[in-house]
Amino acid sequence: MDKNYYITTPIYYPSGKPHMGHAYSSIVADVIARFKKINGYQVYFLTGTDEHGLKIQREAEKNNKDPKEFCDELSITFKNLTKTLNLSNNDFIRTTEKRHFASVNEVWSRLVKSGDIYLDKYSGWYSVSDEAYYDEDEIIQDGAIKKAKSSGSKVEWVEEESFFFKLSAWSDKLLKFYDKNPKFILPISRKNEVINFVKKGLKDLSVSRTSFKWGIPVPKNNKHVIYVWLDALTNYISALNFPKTNDKLYKSFWPADLHIIGKDILRFHAIYWPAFLLAAKIEPPKRVFGHGWILSDDKKMSKSLGNILDPLEIIKNYGVDQLRYYLIKEVSLGNDGSISLLNLKNCINNDLANNYGNLCQRVLSFIEKNCESKIPQPGKFEKIDVDLSEDITKKLPKLIEMIDNQDLNTYIKEVINFSFKSNKYFNDLEPWKLKKTNIKRMNTVLYCILNQIKSISILLFPIMPNSVEKTISSLSLTKKNIFLDEINNQNLLKPGNIIKKGEILFKKIESD
Ligand code: MSP
Repeated sequence: MDKNYYITTPIYYPSGKPHMGHAYSSIVADVIARFKKINGYQVYFLTGTDEHGLKIQREAEKNNKDPKEFCDELSITFKNLTKTLNLSNNDFIRTTEKRHFASVNEVWSRLVKSGDIYLDKYSGWYSVSDEAYYDEDEIIQDGAIKKAKSSGSKVEWVEEESFFFKLSAWSDKLLKFYDKNPKFILPISRKNEVINFVKKGLKDLSVSRTSFKWGIPVPKNNKHVIYVWLDALTNYISALNFPKTNDKLYKSFWPADLHIIGKDILRFHAIYWPAFLLAAKIEPPKRVFGHGWILSDDKKMSKSLGNILDPLEIIKNYGVDQLRYYLIKEVSLGNDGSISLLNLKNCINNDLANNYGNLCQRVLSFIEKNCESKIPQPGKFEKIDVDLSEDITKKLPKLIEMIDNQDLNTYIKEVINFSFKSNKYFNDLEPWKLKKTNIKRMNTVLYCILNQIKSISILLFPIMPNSVEKTISSLSLTKKNIFLDEINNQNLLKPGNIIKKGEILFKKIESD
């Protein structure tokens, strides 16, 4: 069985500071990457920055900076964010790197060779903010300015010589490809939008610009720079050392298993990208998942509304695992989701402090006080004990399926419910009373609940790696034990080993 897994985030425009939308794409991808790892996969996880194009060139000009110098400064803030978010990425690619130029040049040359590129003149609407071309029927008039209907960003008229990619020739082939790969685009609602769009017939796509310079020059014609999306999308193979198709990384990890992206950039990933690849005789990725928008107090985050939530600020005040948990729990992947500080605080208090955190704390404290801090030796298990652990072991295949369908939201709800039930088991079986009446039974109950803490922690690891590592070490286990297989190992915890209670994992947040 193929146990390699390649997952990517979008590469971010370093045109400003990273915000919560960027953090969200990255956290989602990291949760899946970490889950696949603990399920025994060799994972390659890529993120990075998308540094060419008119949008970046103009931002640099506004700041009186050379574009490369401007990107160097801002790309660092995105790289730093990978550390702050505790991402497990293997690589961070920048499209201004040499390795990427080689890869884009090869894709371009292949498209020329296959006869999919021709020279003509482009005239039409362009949004610099989206780096996208729009048709007349995709534009609305808003006062004196024209805007793209889908994104609301301003468009400007462009007329210039341009190379075109024969996208029109790919409509039927793409439809066949979607048909053969029914899970290529997820969620299904978005897939239908894409299919309807392609069914209307695709127009050829302008893939070079002559009116500005900040990009990768077209091979053999450096009057043109390559359209930023053809440049950017290619990052996913550049990082695997394409065009060295015999390279170990490329052979092991291409085609990608999953591109995590926002819904606003689905057309580029679900239409252009597979068309470019098919034309260049490269296998398309296996799946593109378009997540929804993060809304702040029900509105799209924007500078003018002043409702941008800064991930760094929130992490500083509440903790990185807390933010990771909250985003995954609150927003159903694929749909838009509203977030607020009030809900974040409630989530931390209810799910983390009062539920999972409390479970760990009360059980470990009890063992410290009553069992000399040692894992107790269990006696015979009763039905209620077996039912408790089977609740998780029997559901494990379903949980794996949830992640494979990118249903992170249902996954997290199931897992936190295990924690709720374990707290109930502890309350109902009252080990503090058993201490006086039946020590053997108390030990069995404590062993069972420790085993639940172990399993729940492993399941929570992809979401809250820091906190879970602490719990795992409290149980006298190591990082090496954080694998899904260990959930079925009922003897992992060794009686007599020392339990360390540690600090409180999640502090309750007082309301202001
Ligand atoms: N550079 C392109 C992607 C190229 S991928 C080959 C780009 N960059 S971006 O910085 O503008 O956006 C990156 C990602 O952040 C997109 O997937 C976008 O959907 C996501 N988000 C930006 N704002 C967002 C929200 N408010 N909510 C959720 N995600 C959104 O597009």
